[in-house]
Amino acid sequence: MSQRIEFAETGGAEVLQMVEAAPKAPGPGEVRVCNKAVGLNFIDIYFRTGLYPAPSMPSGLGTEGAGVVEAVGEGVTHLKEGDRVAYAQGPLGAYAEQHTLPADKVVILPDDVDFETAAASMLKGLTVQYLLRQTYPLKGGETILFHAAAGGVGSIACQWARALGVKLIGTVSTAEKAALAEKSGAWATINYSTEDVVERVRELTDGAMCDLVYDSIGKDTWETSLDCLKSRGLMVSFGNASGPVEGVNIGILNQKGALFVTRPSLNGYADTRERLEMMCEDFFAMLNSGQVSIDIAQRYPLSEAGKAQEALQSRQTTGSTILLP
Ligand SMILES: NC(=O)c1ccc[n+]([C@@H]2O[C@H](COP(=O)([O-])OP(=O)(O)OC[C@H]3O[C@@H](n4cnc5c(N)ncnc54)[C@H](OP(=O)(O)O)[C@@H]3O)[C@@H](O)[C@H]2O)c1
Repeated sequence: MSQRIEFAETGGAEVLQMVEAAPKAPGPGEVRVCNKAVGLNFIDIYFRTGLYPAPSMPSGLGTEGAGVVEAVGEGVTHLKEGDRVAYAQGPLGAYAEQHTLPADKVVILPDDVDFETAAASMLKGLTVQYLLRQTYPLKGGETILFHAAAGGVGSIACQWARALGVKLIGTVSTAEKAALAEKSGAWATINYSTEDVVERVRELTDGAMCDLVYDSIGKDTWETSLDCLKSRGLMVSFGNASGPVEGVNIGILNQKGALFVTRPSLNGYADTRERLEMMCEDFFAMLNSGQVSIDIAQRYPLSEAGKAQEALQSRQTTGSTILLP
């Protein structure tokens, strides 16, 4: 038998239950991974609360993990038993000792990337890869605003932006988080719980404002984010930590300077095996070069997944959080 976290109804962290189940045999095109570490992500909270509907109930949770392949289904050629692997997509259910998923979502880990680092960074690192290298291929010299700069995605974005020669202005809610973001490479920080973000951006950029804004906060920051852009700037809305952006009047984009907006996702970018491999290659190269390192600031036993989610949701975490089966 194998332990996994499930939820039978949406709600608070208390709906998460540890259950025992027989490990699922991999079907054609699938592998079963014995997880050594599991990643915690804000998207897991969206599924638990019902903002994003789970495909079926009761449901597993989580899409990020790293471990060892222990069973291989028919037709899988690129993986074998004993391979060290990681994944960031696929069916919900990574919060588990063992997870069975499509093999085309699973990649071999380079020898120099340990399981905890991989579980803490596959989803977040590939997200930063597409945000900074594909949604708009930053060349260096741009000024960008990146919300939640001390979080899991944010702390990787600060380092990657610095490596690209991009001036990243990071928003954070505390002085401690500001110090962390600056240590990661943020060019400047703004405490959005005490400072006027638009005015501070104006000061920091000598009135030029930002080429791009990366907004994972959603409802609370949407309008402010648009006001931080220069004319024809790009708003990248990629998350809803404060709730989803709804009821947008598209005319506002014209009023605020002929702006562009996109609402991307990891699954929308890593949508083929070829693209996933290209993104992993780029991300692993950043890890290997030392230009990006992963701050695992919180570790919880898998059985305390609910407690870990409460900490993430109440803004108590910094960097990445992992669950240990
Ligand atoms: N679209 C995609 O492909 C994709 C992929 C990965 C992640 N994301 C999004 O990226 C964001 C970051 O994900 P993460 O897992 O790395 O989380 P995280 O950044 O480690 O944690 C979320 C942070 O958001 C900030 N925040 C602001 N308002 C908040 C509120 N009302 N409630 C909770 N937090 C709030 C907090 O930082 P402060 O205290 O500094 O404000 C908090 O620490 C999430 O919105 C997630 O959905 C999107």
